[in-house]
Amino acid sequence: MKDGKHITLAFESSCDETSVAVLADGREVLSNIIASQIDVHKVFGGVVPEIASRHHLENVNPVLDEALQEAGITLDDVDLIGVTCGPGLVGALLIGVCAAKAVALAANKPLVGVHHIRGHISANYITHKDLEPPFLSLVVSGGHTHIVEVTDYNHCTVLGRTRDDAAGEAFDKVARVLGLGYPGGPLIDKIAKEGDPNAIEFKRVMLEKESLDFSFSGTKTGVLNYLNIARQRGEEINVADVAASFQKTVMDVIVTKAMLAAERTGHKKLALAGGVASNSQLRSMLQEACDKRGITLYCPPPILCTDNAAMIGCAAYYKAKAGLMDDLSLDANPNLPLEG
Ligand code: KG4
Ligand code: ZN
Repeated sequence: MKDGKHITLAFESSCDETSVAVLADGREVLSNIIASQIDVHKVFGGVVPEIASRHHLENVNPVLDEALQEAGITLDDVDLIGVTCGPGLVGALLIGVCAAKAVALAANKPLVGVHHIRGHISANYITHKDLEPPFLSLVVSGGHTHIVEVTDYNHCTVLGRTRDDAAGEAFDKVARVLGLGYPGGPLIDKIAKEGDPNAIEFKRVMLEKESLDFSFSGTKTGVLNYLNIARQRGEEINVADVAASFQKTVMDVIVTKAMLAAERTGHKKLALAGGVASNSQLRSMLQEACDKRGITLYCPPPILCTDNAAMIGCAAYYKAKAGLMDDLSLDANPNLPLEG
């Protein structure tokens, strides 16, 4: 406890960000330190798992020290330790889990393992102090695209998910073939503003009527084919038009499915989450669609959309509140299921 408030110390290392955060009473961020490895992986055009693990190992102690210092606390003040235990890259997850367990053992503190996606959804609790379940959540990140019904703080039902690429993965791959760099999402978002979203018609994959699942690989292949044909013909490629048309196609599908889910479940609250939730076009299209239907849209700021430990600390707080504790046998699970 610090100043009468419950203190959570949280770790996140599922992909290429090493992050440690300190939260007061579950929703107030006292520190949220993020060491990004983007520059390290940029040269490879994507995250190299083995390299990511090594950098997590190097970063985790200095990031922990900085998080404690910025929050103005010591380990004695900590009431709970939370850590992402899956899904993600197994070697990367293991560093965070081992660090959290080591601190829990050394400082004799309770431990809770957190599902990474539950963390992303919880970023909304930090941003919107009035938000409480039940609500609908759209989780769009580099590794996941899910429509989730959040029934209470610790339970949710997956209504739809991608059957192939995640939205962010498709953005990253298309950006790579366009020669834009890595990570591709923010770069496509930026250059798309200068392009015509109706210039090129890419495949808009809706799957079976009424299905809330997604498929982005057909759209991605459509872009690759378009570029190959244009290059073979020696035609000039307007990168901004390709980016704008691709982005519009993907966001059209995401917004349509999210609204279908809202209609079907009757929820009037929609919480956006995950790295792709930073996308400016997705935010404006969803806002417009929600306004038309009287749905309140909740969005975290970009720093809480991409991977960070604050969101994990918030999810850990609500798990602990419900008595869902772990012990030192906690292990990393790269395929941890979301439901249950
Ligand atoms: O949530 P996140 O940090 O990692 C995972 O859990 O996967 O999401 C990273 C993903 C990357 O694919 C990145 O390209 C994408 O989020 N992203 C964006 C934007 N900012 C990040 N995609 C589209 N538009 C953006 N502005
Ligand atoms: Zn993530």
